[in-house]
Amino acid sequence: MAAAPATFYITTPIYYVNDVPHIGHAYTTLACDVIARFMRLDGRDVRFLTGTDEHGQKVQTSAARAGVAPQAFTDRVSQNFRDLARAMRFSNDDFIRTTEPRHKRATQALWQALEARGEIYRGTYAGWYAVRDEAYYQPEELTDGPDGRKIAPTGADCEWVEEPSYFFRLSAWQDRLLAHYEANPDFILPAGKRNEVVAFVRSGLRDLSVSRTTFDWGIPVPGDPAHIMYVWLDALTNYLTAVGYPDTAPGSDYDRYWAGVHHLVGKDILRFHAVYWPAFLMAAGLAPPRRVFAHGWWTIEGQKMSKSLGNVIAPHTLVDTYGLDQTRYFLMREVPFGNDGDFSHRAMVNRINGDLANDYGNLVQRVLSMVAKNCGAAVPTPDARTDADQRLLGSARDLLARSRAEIEVQALHRFLDLVWAVVGDANRYVDEQAPWALRKTDPVRMGTVLYCLAETIRHLAILTQPVMPDASGRILDLLAVPPDRRGFAALTPDHALAPGTPLPAPAPVFPRHVDDAAPGA
Ligand code: MSP
Repeated sequence: MAAAPATFYITTPIYYVNDVPHIGHAYTTLACDVIARFMRLDGRDVRFLTGTDEHGQKVQTSAARAGVAPQAFTDRVSQNFRDLARAMRFSNDDFIRTTEPRHKRATQALWQALEARGEIYRGTYAGWYAVRDEAYYQPEELTDGPDGRKIAPTGADCEWVEEPSYFFRLSAWQDRLLAHYEANPDFILPAGKRNEVVAFVRSGLRDLSVSRTTFDWGIPVPGDPAHIMYVWLDALTNYLTAVGYPDTAPGSDYDRYWAGVHHLVGKDILRFHAVYWPAFLMAAGLAPPRRVFAHGWWTIEGQKMSKSLGNVIAPHTLVDTYGLDQTRYFLMREVPFGNDGDFSHRAMVNRINGDLANDYGNLVQRVLSMVAKNCGAAVPTPDARTDADQRLLGSARDLLARSRAEIEVQALHRFLDLVWAVVGDANRYVDEQAPWALRKTDPVRMGTVLYCLAETIRHLAILTQPVMPDASGRILDLLAVPPDRRGFAALTPDHALAPGTPLPAPAPVFPRHVDDAAPGA
């Protein structure tokens, strides 16, 4: 197998600060966090970036509605996203705000690179714009709403805009984009989403308006400050800003991290990331991202999340009701990553009581209590191993290579399926080997069985750290695994538990959820 590159760069979309964070926002960042933690445990040099998208008409309007200047407004609301990151234990290395000087510098440099290469020209835009989406639409895409309003396919209201504007020659990039998708079949994942993008680009691209003049909350166009840059050009550039662009010299952060960048985004913003963004980059002479992965959307108890329905769930409500690791586990396991999914109290409780309390938690609890009672509260001493022992240990040892392959394609749910298959194997092994019955008849064999189980649990807990950092850490504490032996490099027989190591008194790690009420009910 070719060695994986040592560096790994992963990004979330940057969040509009007109909104308070909800579980949709927490979801993208959580997925990135799990992947970033996995890669760090696997010895990679990781950059994990998130942040806030603070310019544009939508944010300016929200600030005006709140009666504050845009900068004061964004300072306040951006903090909510930093608080969210802390509450969810996101391990981002950087938090970017598009109002920072480093970002203005990078965005203006990218503009100048595009201009110098003849990719930008001046003209006039006359057409439809949806402030909610910060996106331009063609007349044929729109439907008629009440009162003669024009409605975008996303449901957003459109307004007619006519103003001088700079344009990016997107139309000239159609063939090169198609060639890039063709040559890099996993540039866009999942495959179904890739096909949608390819069909869209095949249907023809128009030049893109990349500046506005009718409001001023944005980054000025270099040399023509009456224009501010289109908020998506500004926002997408954040991924470059954070690796120090325009410094692209050998040894710079750009040089180290850019080629391997992975963008995780919701399906609604895939086009910006998989069409406009690689075109901007290639046009500026820069490499397109390595991967754009589009995930699906969450509904709540079968309904679209919306302020008017009053069903918007704040991430801290879930954490307070169900626990942090439980929430993280549910969001990653319940829905195949890439598909739409539904949050329901019932489904959450089933996962907590089934997968966590009954399957994983009970395995840990019964094995560690037997060890505490019957093996002198120390790691048991194994004797000769049977086929069943080898099979169980073999499945635990195979997990890392198989998990890597799933994480490589962002199949987070399949990674957890693999881990839970071994949880199931271990529970079946306990039932078959019945170590409690061996206590009197064959204590040596009991020691071997409990050792194999403890060693399997060590593997499981090391591998569940990216998803459930707290609970996995507690399980590793119960096995007396030292902090410097918790990386994936320790998933080898030479780091196996040392017989005779004293163990602390076992304590349950995954409580059952008994309260039947949904949050807010
Ligand atoms: N600011 C832009 C992104 C710029 S990236 C250069 C933006 N921001 S957003 O705050 O509106 O959305 C951010 C992310 O939240 C998107 O990936 C979007 O898909 C995700 N979600 C918003 N609601 C969601 C759900 N109900 N479910 C899952 N994800 C959702 O777009």
